[in-house]
Amino acid sequence: MDIAASLRTLKDRMEADASLPLYGEANLVFGEGSPSGGVMFIGEAPGANEDRLKRPFVGRGGQLLDEAIRAIGWKREEVYITNIVKRRPPENRDPLPAEIAAYRPYLAQQIAIVDPALIVTLGRFAMNYFAPGAKMTRDHGSAFGIDGRIVFPVYHPAAALRSTEMMKVFRADFKKIPDVRAGRIATVPPPAITTKVTANPFPDDTKPSVKKDGGIPSGQEGLW
Ligand code: URA
Repeated sequence: MDIAASLRTLKDRMEADASLPLYGEANLVFGEGSPSGGVMFIGEAPGANEDRLKRPFVGRGGQLLDEAIRAIGWKREEVYITNIVKRRPPENRDPLPAEIAAYRPYLAQQIAIVDPALIVTLGRFAMNYFAPGAKMTRDHGSAFGIDGRIVFPVYHPAAALRSTEMMKVFRADFKKIPDVRAGRIATVPPPAITTKVTANPFPDDTKPSVKKDGGIPSGQEGLW
């Protein structure tokens, strides 16, 4: 099967998967663009405009993304654009960990089909999908080598639109993309996840409950 047909099949499977969170509440925004350019941009989740048009990044953030892509001498149609979560969360709230987890196998397949050499992540949710230990303020503009691909985190366009300072950083990071793509910037391993061992992991000062049978409550195994 060719790449376009594989993507269509994946999209059809997603449309039909009623187990996915937000199914029936919002349209599927699968992704679009060229699967042969070697570059994938990955955002967080669709907003209202994207939901209405069933296309990623078509609102104000999308206009900035298009313009930033043009500014480095590329065209939107030459790259592939998608999101971590492919349906709009209500009121544009942050995607929930369960939503990210549910959509993960589909994104993994989409990445395997498009097979990009470079993934540009837009915002912290997409960055942390690949590099859970990364922090936006510290790690934006770094080229991480992950699973044989380059993952390059930049600020989300919506964040860039909110402040002049962020916009400067967003544009400076974008300028590096052609060099990153061409392998002229060395990759580094993604940061390890760091845990503060002295911090209380129980937010309200409570200890995890002990099940009546004395076992460890499910989901809390790692805390004991
Ligand atoms: N923000 C995103 O993260 N993705 C979109 O598609 C639009 C806005």
